[in-house]
Amino acid sequence: QAPDARKNGDLYRDYVDDKNAPSQDTLYAASNGAPIAHPYESQRAGENGPLLLQDFHLIDLLSHFDRERIPERVVHAKGSGAHGFYRTTDSLEDLSLADVFKPGKTVPITIRFSTVGGEMGSADCARDPRGFAMKFRTEEGNWDLVANNTPVFFLRDPAKFPHFIHTQKRHPATNLGAADDSTMFWDYLSQNPESVHQVMVLMGDRGIPDGYRYMHGYSGHTFKLVNAQGEWVYAQFHMKSKQGTRFLTNDQAATKGPDYSQRDLYEAIERGEYPGWDFAVQTVTPKQAEEMWEKEGINVFDLTHVWPQGKYPLRKVGEFFLNENAKNYFAEVEQAAFSPSHLVPGIEPSADPVLQSRLFSYPDTHRHRLGTNYAQLPVNAPRVPYRFANFQRNGAMAFYNQGGRENYLSSISPINFRKRAVDADATHAHWTGEMVTFLSEIRPEDFQAPRALWEKVWDEGARSRFVETVAGNMSRCGDKEIIKRQIGIFREVSDDMATRLEKATGVQGYPGIKGLRFNGSHNGMAEEKSLRAAN
Ligand code: HEM
Repeated sequence: QAPDARKNGDLYRDYVDDKNAPSQDTLYAASNGAPIAHPYESQRAGENGPLLLQDFHLIDLLSHFDRERIPERVVHAKGSGAHGFYRTTDSLEDLSLADVFKPGKTVPITIRFSTVGGEMGSADCARDPRGFAMKFRTEEGNWDLVANNTPVFFLRDPAKFPHFIHTQKRHPATNLGAADDSTMFWDYLSQNPESVHQVMVLMGDRGIPDGYRYMHGYSGHTFKLVNAQGEWVYAQFHMKSKQGTRFLTNDQAATKGPDYSQRDLYEAIERGEYPGWDFAVQTVTPKQAEEMWEKEGINVFDLTHVWPQGKYPLRKVGEFFLNENAKNYFAEVEQAAFSPSHLVPGIEPSADPVLQSRLFSYPDTHRHRLGTNYAQLPVNAPRVPYRFANFQRNGAMAFYNQGGRENYLSSISPINFRKRAVDADATHAHWTGEMVTFLSEIRPEDFQAPRALWEKVWDEGARSRFVETVAGNMSRCGDKEIIKRQIGIFREVSDDMATRLEKATGVQGYPGIKGLRFNGSHNGMAEEKSLRAAN
């Protein structure tokens, strides 16, 4: 029941069709369009003489080649992408005025999946979370949902992100990566206990997805959905693979080639086996959010926690499929710029500090990675039914520079404005208070979900594979004190888990985290529940 791939995936053709002409229809020319007799031609002075500066063709060729590389993504550098379409099957109009959530609405999408820590050429089957970045080309602008394949994250304080990521990059002196030396990785984790749930997911049976088709996606963060009456709820988005989930063991992963997930996705789409996902939301009202905090210690602005699905069930909204491979990977996937701040009316950010930081960080890196006019690149350009105008002008590669219209809000060439559907100021939370320092305290609740994972969700096989994987990884950690601290964190989750890890690593850990001095803004365990923990 997938609609015609050509129709839905035809995102760039209007821009670049003439550049994609089949080779037999083309004539060899330098970049200024002047025909050249042969690509191997260069001009030299006499038979064995030096080359000539006047040879534009050779200089054109070499100098473009010299500039072929753009910076790789600072995280999520290795990835795979494809195009497809999203369709709303079950109206969400009661909760959101977003055009994309009207019943039956179908919009073109591009998705990029990725690993996180590795470099551009790194192995697809690394034990690492997976990125799940979606661009919905809605009729009210592009909405990007930049998600992962795990519902929780390593941190709730954004200032920790560069530190954490650096521990997975190469060591400044040895230049060794985390696959060789995991000391920095465990050093960070063992000082930041709020990471423990994500660490368990990562080191557990779900740590290495079998390609990208067989994994779910989660926004992790809380967003806000606003309806036409100006009422709003907190929401998290869930993408459920129609293929089901599949994961690889360490041994299976070791046999896969470095581009395993790329090949799997590409070839499935070429075979016409279009991977699909159901799209669902989980919502809580502001009042329920307060109750969740009071009764369960779960803060909606803290993405190290999940909302219990028993109490806050998923509601299916739509589905999406990938039915077209990129014709040109660089143009259609590498140059794709996804950002959590690319939102559309009806979908708003919450006050989650990590999300708030991401709203800034992505467009910032896009300006660096792709240039200030990154939004004009065909893969990123909005496809809206109206002609849109603004006062951004010039900058490198300004292809769509908005013609001769005055570049200020003028009375000479007035442009149109659409009134806000709801008055956000009147309907949204007001923040007051003095400036405070964001303290990411550790609370007993941080260990509840990880404990349930160990005691109730995992069977004996899953527990022993987890212990084996963690111990194997820690064998590359060159500092026993770090292992002791991490076992102290695991003991807060479960005595059984920590004791098994002591046996497997041969290291006697700490009895818990009480009294441990971390180099973070928190120490040990907070006795009292404090709203400042993640608020
Ligand atoms: C990529 C920053 C947390 C999901 C990136 C990139 C940056 C970044 C700079 C590279 C983007 C590019 O070059 O286009 C941050 C910061 C974070 C954070 C500062 C926290 C403070 C998260 C979280 C998630 C996430 C919590 C998921 C829930 C992704 C994904 C990509 C990405 C999927 C790859 C996007 C693509 O395929 O182009 N992040 N990130 N990140 N991030 Fe984050």
